[in-house]
Amino acid sequence: MTILTPRLQLRPLVAADLDDLVELYADREVMRGSSGVATPRDRAASEGWLTQTLAVPMTGGWATFRVDDRSTGTFLGRCGLRRDDSSTDTELAYAFARHAWGRGIATEAATAVVRHGFAAGLTRVVACALAENAASLRVLEKVGMRRVREEPTEVGVLVYHEMVAIRHSGRRTVQLDQ
Ligand SMILES: CC(C)(COP(=O)(O)OP(=O)(O)OC[C@H]1O[C@@H](n2cnc3c(N)ncnc32)[C@H](O)[C@@H]1OP(=O)(O)O)[C@@H](O)C(=O)NCCC(=O)NCCS
Repeated sequence: MTILTPRLQLRPLVAADLDDLVELYADREVMRGSSGVATPRDRAASEGWLTQTLAVPMTGGWATFRVDDRSTGTFLGRCGLRRDDSSTDTELAYAFARHAWGRGIATEAATAVVRHGFAAGLTRVVACALAENAASLRVLEKVGMRRVREEPTEVGVLVYHEMVAIRHSGRRTVQLDQ
């Protein structure tokens, strides 16, 4: 399963992607955005994350994709839909290498992933970002997600978002505006 967008190629993560993920998560700024704590993730922790991610069957719209630049093959980051640990929700999550930031890459990848999820039958996708993560909040807004609530946590205020699919005449369409 490969998704192509104008600039990107997305394909499900595999074990051989470990080195690229290790490099991604060795960046404290990537970790600050991802977890709220600017501590680089070491190789063992990244391997643990990948093993856990690969253990979840990639069906029904759930998949975590490796995102590459389509023209150069350069690894840019990861983006996907995963089951929320604490509920039955499907959560959009992403992280991109610093060299990829500021070019609309996250928005392009996340939009494609959400469309893929709805096309696969999902009816609701959620996401959250820390209130201080203005870039991620903007990505969620540009993808078409709606803010639903905020919750204080140990690492900061989490801003929850959702997007729901609406059916028209038997055809599933994605609600892209708020
Ligand atoms: C957050 C992240 C995914 C954004 O990726 P990106 O490819 O730069 O995002 P895009 O270019 O698609 O969009 C970013 C938007 O935020 C805006 N933005 C960036 N920094 C901002 C800031 N400090 N304040 C306000 N807006 C900001 C950009 O201008 C852009 O909006 P625009 O298109 O209206 O100009 C990327 O920085 C990242 O991977 N960070 C580390 C991991 C992370 O935070 N993951 C998300 C966890 S919730």
